[in-house]
Amino acid sequence: MSKVLVTGGCGYIGSHTIVDLIENGFEVISIDNLSNSSEDALLGIEKITGKKIHNYRVDLADRTRTFDIFEEHQDIKGIIHFAALKAVGESVEQPLRYFHNNLAGMINVLMAMNTFEVNNLIFSSSCSVYGNADHLPVTEETPLKEAESPYARTKQMCEQIIEDTLHRYTSLNAIMLRYFNPAGAHESALIGESPINIANNLVPVITETAIGKRESMTVFGDDYPTRDGSCIRDYIHVMDLANAHTKALTYLLEGNNKLNTEIFNIGIGEGVSVLEAVQAFEKVTGQPLNYEIGPRRPGDVIAIYANKNKTEQSLGWTPQRNIEDIMRTAWEWEQKRTGATIG
Ligand code: UD1
Repeated sequence: MSKVLVTGGCGYIGSHTIVDLIENGFEVISIDNLSNSSEDALLGIEKITGKKIHNYRVDLADRTRTFDIFEEHQDIKGIIHFAALKAVGESVEQPLRYFHNNLAGMINVLMAMNTFEVNNLIFSSSCSVYGNADHLPVTEETPLKEAESPYARTKQMCEQIIEDTLHRYTSLNAIMLRYFNPAGAHESALIGESPINIANNLVPVITETAIGKRESMTVFGDDYPTRDGSCIRDYIHVMDLANAHTKALTYLLEGNNKLNTEIFNIGIGEGVSVLEAVQAFEKVTGQPLNYEIGPRRPGDVIAIYANKNKTEQSLGWTPQRNIEDIMRTAWEWEQKRTGATIG
């Protein structure tokens, strides 16, 4: 049983990935400072898998305490590094907090890998590194444009830090997974997205509106040059995304990588507009959504979706779920965590 260190294991994508790792025979430990998460997620994981996960409440910017964990666990075979701040708008307001947190954590993870000879890293990157791409869908070879926010810049910078570091330390291997828009929840509704800070992402905004936590929601712009005027994204179910991490780690552990840094897009390969997402929610849940059309949100790219051919061919990964599965599971999770049943 290979031991994996998951940073940000109490967070949204981290917790779902731990479930998938356990179901595929991995042993997991977590480091999470709980700045935007709670250890309640670990209880959900235990109910689903029967396994208790230990979380070290440590900030990765604290190198001494981070290294202590590696000292204690000499048998870590791989790291999945999720821990980071991720709100685009907040990053514009607080750029230094974003640069400090996301870069210091990344650098300390790489230093620990080099010091303790942990050779395999999966890094949470983002499609935001592409900026406003000239051609869609984007492939991993699509040139990166100017980052639209400090958040996106931290993802570009982390990718470069990994590349430069692994160029020097060639026994280390890394895969950067460029996520498109993760959404949805585990089928059991025992874990899901539960940010401590206010939700900004479309799917939690939709479910919070439908359940009455918000009076209404705003569709940010219907005058974009797209099929219905609203922005287009590639929404990927969080359990499909979780499984991409397990497959990527297995690929590295089996030595199947051709280079010591490789990049893969993780999306379903189809664009869905904001208005189509709203319609999908209303269709699968039967809940009418109180929304209005508002102005464009600064920093939004117009349209982006993935070419996933390389990921499918190399990792043998294919997404199994669509936007309707996302809305159904997100809604079940919203009702469960709110303690309400509607419809
Ligand atoms: C961005 C990043 C993504 C990152 C995520 C983290 C890009 C292309 N993507 O996603 O990589 O993981 O932030 O938070 O930069 N919307 C509304 N009303 C709302 C909320 C959202 O209309 O109340 C619209 C947005 O304008 C956008 C779409 O829904 O068109 C998706 O927005 P959101 O869920 O916030 O994700 P991104 O900004 O696409």
